[in-house]
Amino acid sequence: MLAITQDEFGGPELLHLTEVEDPVAGEGEVLIAVTASAVNRADLLQREGHYPPPPGASPILGMECSGTISAVGSGITGWQIGDRVCALLAGGGYAEQVAVPAPQVLPLPDGVDLADAAGLPEVACTVWSNLIMRAGLGAGQTLLVHGGASGIGTMAIQVGKAIGATVVVTASRDSSLERCRELGADVGINYSTQDFVEALKDATDGRGADVILDVVGAKYLQRNISTLALDGSLVIIGMQGGAKAELDLGALMARRGAVISTALRSRAVSGPGSKGEIVDAVRDHLWPLVATGAVRPVIDVVLPLSQAGQAHQRMADGGHFGKILLAT
Ligand SMILES: NC(=O)c1ccc[n+]([C@@H]2O[C@H](COP(=O)([O-])OP(=O)(O)OC[C@H]3O[C@@H](n4cnc5c(N)ncnc54)[C@H](OP(=O)(O)O)[C@@H]3O)[C@@H](O)[C@H]2O)c1
Repeated sequence: MLAITQDEFGGPELLHLTEVEDPVAGEGEVLIAVTASAVNRADLLQREGHYPPPPGASPILGMECSGTISAVGSGITGWQIGDRVCALLAGGGYAEQVAVPAPQVLPLPDGVDLADAAGLPEVACTVWSNLIMRAGLGAGQTLLVHGGASGIGTMAIQVGKAIGATVVVTASRDSSLERCRELGADVGINYSTQDFVEALKDATDGRGADVILDVVGAKYLQRNISTLALDGSLVIIGMQGGAKAELDLGALMARRGAVISTALRSRAVSGPGSKGEIVDAVRDHLWPLVATGAVRPVIDVVLPLSQAGQAHQRMADGGHFGKILLAT
C-alpha cells in the first residue's frame, strides 16, 4: 500500500508518499481501507521527533481515520467486511490501510459523509471524555474553551451548546471568533488583543467558568485558576504554552477548584479508563447528537494524502478552522 513516511525527523517537507507493507488484522483487530485521515497537532510533534508513538503502535503518522472494513481478524464479532466506519488510532492513519483494535472503531454516524467522518474520532473522544466524563459539564454551566477555532475547539463548542451550557471561546483572530459564534459560541474573546480573565468575568457577572478546556498549559495556569467559578474544573489537554508552572494552591482552594489533565493516545485499548470505554460512551451519547445534526464535523480543507506536508504546514501556520483532512 501507499503511506506517508519520513526518512528523518524534521520539517513538513520530509513527508512523502511511499510504498510500504500492507498491515494485517491481528487478533481482535479489523483492517480498514482508509477513505480519509485527519491531521492532529500531535502529528506535527511526532514528525519532529518530540512525540514518539506508544509501544507497539505503527510508526506511520495518523491518529484517526474513516473508511470501509476490508478484513477482520480472529475473535471479531459485530463488525463485517464492507461496514463504513471511523476509528481512533494509536498511529498508522496516513495510509491506504490500517489495522485497528475493534474497541476503537465507531460506526459512521447517520448523515455524515464518509470522508468527513475522519475528522470526528479524536475530537469527539477527547471532548466527550474530558468535558462530560471527567469534568461533568452540565446544562446552565459556563464553559470556557481556549482555541475555539481548533479541531478540538469546534467540537467543544458544539458539545457545550448541545448539552445546554453557555460557551465562551478564545481565538487569535476576529474572523475565527465570528465563525465560532456561527457554530454556537455565545461569547468570543480575542486573546491577542483582550485579557481573557477580565473578558470572561465581564461576560459572567464576575462568576467565572465552571469548566475550562485548556490547550495552553503552563502559560495560562494562574490566569485559568483565577477565572474558575466556585467548584469549577480546569481541564488541561495541551501544553502549547509550556509544561512547567507554579500552582497557587491558595487560589485553587479559595475556588474549591479541580485541576484535571488527561491524554488519550496512551490509554489502554480496553478496561477501566480505556479508549474502548470512551469510544463506547461517544457512540452511545455523542453519536445521537451527530445524527440529529446538533453536532457536525467541521472541516477546514480536504487535501490528497500525497500533500501531507502541505497539510502540516497549514496547521503550523495557524488560521485554519476545524479539521484538516487527508483523502486517499
Ligand atoms: N490530551 C489529549 O488527549 C489531547 C487530544 C487531542 C488534542 N489535544 C491538544 O489539543 C490542542 C488542539 O489540538 P488540535 O489538533 O485541534 O490543534 P489545532 O487545530 O492546531 O489547534 C490549536 C489551537 O490552539 C490555539 N492556541 C494556541 N495558543 C493559544 C493561546 N495562547 N490562547 C488560546 N488559544 C491558543 C490556537 O488558536 P488560534 O489559531 O486562534 O491562535 C488553535 O485554535 C493541541 O494542543 C493538542 O495537543 C490533546
